[in-house]
Amino acid sequence: MNDYELIDSGNELKFERFGNLKLVRPCAQALWKKKMPKWEDVDATFDRKSLWKTQHKKPSWQVAIGEIALELKMTEFGHIGFFPEHLSILEKISPLVEKNDKVLNLFAYSGLMTLALAQKKAQLCHVDASKTTVDWARKNARINNLEKASIRWIVDDVMKFLKREVKRGSRYDGVVLDPPTFGRGAQGQVFKLERDINLLLELVKQVLSKEAKFVALSCHTPGISPLVLKQIFEGYFPASDFGELVILANKGRDLPCGSFAIFLK
Ligand SMILES: C[S@@+](CC[C@H](N)C(=O)[O-])C[C@H]1O[C@@H](n2cnc3c(N)ncnc32)[C@H](O)[C@@H]1O
Repeated sequence: MNDYELIDSGNELKFERFGNLKLVRPCAQALWKKKMPKWEDVDATFDRKSLWKTQHKKPSWQVAIGEIALELKMTEFGHIGFFPEHLSILEKISPLVEKNDKVLNLFAYSGLMTLALAQKKAQLCHVDASKTTVDWARKNARINNLEKASIRWIVDDVMKFLKREVKRGSRYDGVVLDPPTFGRGAQGQVFKLERDINLLLELVKQVLSKEAKFVALSCHTPGISPLVLKQIFEGYFPASDFGELVILANKGRDLPCGSFAIFLK
């Protein structure tokens, strides 16, 4: 079951369906013309000046993404609690994950990856700097009856957390990381992908177990092409796969959304 659909994109916008709701949001990379002449039955439109324009009265709604139900909300940043481009990463690593594997999910947001792997009975550590976002992920865990699953919920700066894990000698069998271009840690620490990516990967390397099965890195930073990311990644791990993150459209044009590089055992 998948309640998500990219309907079309173009004119620096994207048109997507999340369950019953069809949303139009800005999309800087969609410099091409829309494929469909008219986008019909739009339930909500976001732009950075006037935020959301919608007749939809409910503050949140639920969608099914694979086996996981996610609560979505129209946030003031235009995000809604689900990044569809990250699904392809889940599809690549999920077959490797087995019961009791220790998996670290960094920059983990509203929890889709965490919950999908917890459902496979892996032991998850979910790290995000935003308490609001971690609370949202915990609510998603309850919605999926996973409140008793083995998940450590951590509100912290990823770099600070990793340095502590290195000191403690913690080890993981798999790491997923989807860092933003720019972010802030829980105490306001600044994260800048271009400045911090090498230290981030060095720390990830230090928390990997000898039997580690995967490291999956993705990013959405303009200028970090698949080859750039692969060559950074290869300073620390052999890249089994790398490429462009793409959301495939039903009728309209496919949407490139960043780069990924993955080590798979
Ligand atoms: C692009 S989202 C990740 C989306 C996620 N991969 C998904 O598909 O659901 C980036 C997340 O990183 C978090 N973040 C930003 N800077 C951080 C930092 N320094 N330490 C920890 N989390 C951070 C944000 O709160 C946000 O939830």
